[in-house]
Amino acid sequence: MDQVRELLAKFNSRFHSTPKVYRAPGRVNLIGEHTDYNEGFVLPAAIGFSCWVAIAPRDDRKLALYSENFDEFVEAELDYLKPHASGKWADYPLGVAWALEQAGNRLRGANIYILGEVPLGAGLSSSAALEVAAGFALMHLAQHAITLKELAVLCQHAENEFAGARCGIMDQFVACHGRAGNAMLLDCRSLDSKLLPLPPKVRLVICNTMVKHNIGSSEYNVRRQECEEGVRQLSKVLPEIRALRDVSLADLENNRGLLNDLIYKRCRHVVTENARTRAAAAALQSGEVAALRQLMADPHRSLRDDCEVSCPELDIMVDLAMRQPGVLGARMNGGGFGGCKINLVNAADSDQFRERAAQGYRAATGQRPDIYVSEASEGVAIAEPG
Ligand code: GLA
Repeated sequence: MDQVRELLAKFNSRFHSTPKVYRAPGRVNLIGEHTDYNEGFVLPAAIGFSCWVAIAPRDDRKLALYSENFDEFVEAELDYLKPHASGKWADYPLGVAWALEQAGNRLRGANIYILGEVPLGAGLSSSAALEVAAGFALMHLAQHAITLKELAVLCQHAENEFAGARCGIMDQFVACHGRAGNAMLLDCRSLDSKLLPLPPKVRLVICNTMVKHNIGSSEYNVRRQECEEGVRQLSKVLPEIRALRDVSLADLENNRGLLNDLIYKRCRHVVTENARTRAAAAALQSGEVAALRQLMADPHRSLRDDCEVSCPELDIMVDLAMRQPGVLGARMNGGGFGGCKINLVNAADSDQFRERAAQGYRAATGQRPDIYVSEASEGVAIAEPG
């Protein structure tokens, strides 16, 4: 049975009605990490794993949500939603309902069945996939129009204000706008984006360290505060800057004396990462895929040493990958502190890569990694039975 038919049947046996089904994808980020909340550049792609949401209206103003992944049922009244982080999965759909209503969209009560196939806590944006799928579904049900840009921004707002993670816009934006076969260069200040076709014979191979990451954890928010502190100090001599996006490497080096070592390193990561991201986008666009290898290796070092968001397991995986044939690039992916590594691998080498990476990781850490092979995929959509 296909995924949609299966969900229709499961929904029916729980809520005794026929729903509509929506899906939104997780993502990988090829380069541009911890730059989105600094109004910089990112280069993500949507992946072939989605969060699925089946929804049907109710006569009252209640949301009744069931998560298959957590086998948990939660109810909430639309009229009494208010930001509070419980740290649970329901913060995301409830947060989005809250944000949509705050923005003037009166929603309908609904029964909702959620099935997430994006691995949880693996740095593949399972939470953004859930937010975007739920937001899209709730707006359709209430017959309100919304642009995908507006939806992405409101989902980010929900995660910042309701769920308490001060994430940037990357994950929600690509869950909305992803396109099959393409990565996307996104300017996180203007929200202008450009699709960049990935070479057809290249696979996205995602290796999971199995170390769970949680971006609601205080370390992610601390990184953001450290970058803001950098802007505060630098703006004493560079009053025109608004975010690290506006700072050049020369500005940073000339004013290094204003920053303590830690803040300087954080700023250096962001400033150099923005430059690398634009260079990687240019390399993809002109078909110089060989240049990606170095462009992806440098950010891993910068994320490890300057941003300090890697972990020994990610470093081991990147070292292992760089020794395999057919690897066009490998680096940690997402917020860090565990989660997944992304590899761009020639399709012809991807089976062998998978085997060797798993063996090597097991020998080094005793852990069996999950490895997923994906193509770049489509953003949020309604799903019809196949
Ligand atoms: C998480 C956040 C994103 C981004 C990345 C790091 O995925 O949700 O907004 O900041 O970390 O690049």
